[in-house]
Amino acid sequence: MTFTQAAGLGVADELALAMPGSEWWRTAVIYQIYPRSFADANGDGVGDLPGVTEHLDDLQRLGVDAIWLSPFMTSPQKDAGYDVADYCDVDPLFGTLDDFDAMLSAAHARGIRVIVDLVPNHSSDQHVWFQEALAAGPGSAARARYLFRDGKGESGELPPNNWESVFGGPAWSRTTNPDGTPGQWYLHIFDASQPDFDWSNPVVWEEFRRILRFWLDRGVDGFRVDVAHGLIKADGLPDYTPPTDAASMGGEESDVPYWAQEGVHEVYRDWHKLVAEYDGDRALCAEAWLPTIEKTALWVRPDEMHQAFNFEYLQTKWDAAALRAVIDGSIRAYGAVGAPSTWVLSNHDVVRHASRLALTAENPQGYGIGPDSPGKPIADVGLRRARAATTLMLALPGSAYLYQGEELGLPEVIDLPDAARQDPTWFRTGGERYGRDGCRVPLPWTAEGAAHGFNDTGASWLPQPAEWAAFARDVQQADPRSTLNLYTRLLELRARFSLGAGELEWLEGYGPDVVAFRRGALDVVANLGDAAVELGAVGFLIQSEAFDGTAVPADTTVWFERA
Ligand code: NOJ
Repeated sequence: MTFTQAAGLGVADELALAMPGSEWWRTAVIYQIYPRSFADANGDGVGDLPGVTEHLDDLQRLGVDAIWLSPFMTSPQKDAGYDVADYCDVDPLFGTLDDFDAMLSAAHARGIRVIVDLVPNHSSDQHVWFQEALAAGPGSAARARYLFRDGKGESGELPPNNWESVFGGPAWSRTTNPDGTPGQWYLHIFDASQPDFDWSNPVVWEEFRRILRFWLDRGVDGFRVDVAHGLIKADGLPDYTPPTDAASMGGEESDVPYWAQEGVHEVYRDWHKLVAEYDGDRALCAEAWLPTIEKTALWVRPDEMHQAFNFEYLQTKWDAAALRAVIDGSIRAYGAVGAPSTWVLSNHDVVRHASRLALTAENPQGYGIGPDSPGKPIADVGLRRARAATTLMLALPGSAYLYQGEELGLPEVIDLPDAARQDPTWFRTGGERYGRDGCRVPLPWTAEGAAHGFNDTGASWLPQPAEWAAFARDVQQADPRSTLNLYTRLLELRARFSLGAGELEWLEGYGPDVVAFRRGALDVVANLGDAAVELGAVGFLIQSEAFDGTAVPADTTVWFERA
């Protein structure tokens, strides 16, 4: 049986697989904007949409094909906007719908596509539906849009099951009836302010179709779909005890009753058809933390989503054999369903790769790094590895995601004061896990000036370290060896050699610590070992670190054209 038969595809789909298309999202470099930390036009300390518009020229100069914006919709910001109260409006913190439209058309005028974040697993507890549900009481149609249940125990004092929130603590909270007595419980896989929708209810499907159309009609080029593996829960909501003491976003475990339930694929088959009604190859990208690449590939079968984040790649250690295996496995698994592989090293949920690649102790996903964390990263090793890792990644076939600030080589901020921390993880674990604030600190645009050019008032929702003057964009623009200029040149060469498309051929003979491959006219050699690797007489097109001679030093990647 071939894989496509196993996946339940018909003859037409088989043909489509044989002829992968030329849609933009197959090869695009997509830059993630975390709006609250990108640029702050109104000076209130939180970035906004006009701030994005003001800096589109910088992104065009960098050479990205598209931007993905983390949520800017109406939200009480209990989870930095991933708690949406109105899916079809802009939160005043970030601007207005007019600001959004202006940003979108300014991006399109520069040839930059725009993807927005859609959060369908849960809403904010301030969403009108949830407020209606609280008011309407047990058994009502309003409650049936979420997962309300009676508690266990004599008077319902125990939660309906033992599920844990990803952010720590129980995944259930109890409501209070209008007369002050304790009421039913509701499920929240994340914070208590993020109640999960009940996707077995057709009303929820209808509402999200409306939301998709709202943004598609405005002209967005696609959606990054939050928790795309979580919408459907196992019948009966059975108890589940994770193998480790920490609930995760799903990356480590199989058979979890709230992740990767078969029924979730029906949602994306429906959305695939809806999105296909629009011109311009609009795309859906899954944020789905799953235990294997093969599982993740199920989200991008030809009639489902178009891309899925490659978290297996992101989580791979700085180890040549492991990298070869994950690259090989990704190209194979995604290729088998006719989808491009994606590549990603950083985002707003993980320790920045300029720090993560030089950690000296285990750091489970979501824990973050703070003043008391063991195994702090070695800064110069981390930056060097990050530059080498990105130089390797941007030579791979498929679509690549960049996270704002990585083009500046920004490290994780470790010494944030406790009082400044805002990630719900920090609060829900009583400070045991630092969480994700360290990768979310506002960007330094200028060495001098208030908040390093993030705005002109100096306000900043998370404090920027003084050392960030050295990372500022204006300083890096003037320095040919800067990380910013490395990224700019990598993107220019990636476009010139059409590296997003085509095949990858492994090159052997460089030793166990090297990842080497051929991409058409280009050879790429990444040295992850301690000893220099001699390449003979080649003219390098690009080097992640400047060096003389022909021996590639430790933690360095080069691209060269064969003679
Ligand atoms: C994944 C998002 O990337 C993360 O930031 C958020 O906290 C959770 N989903 C919940 O929406």
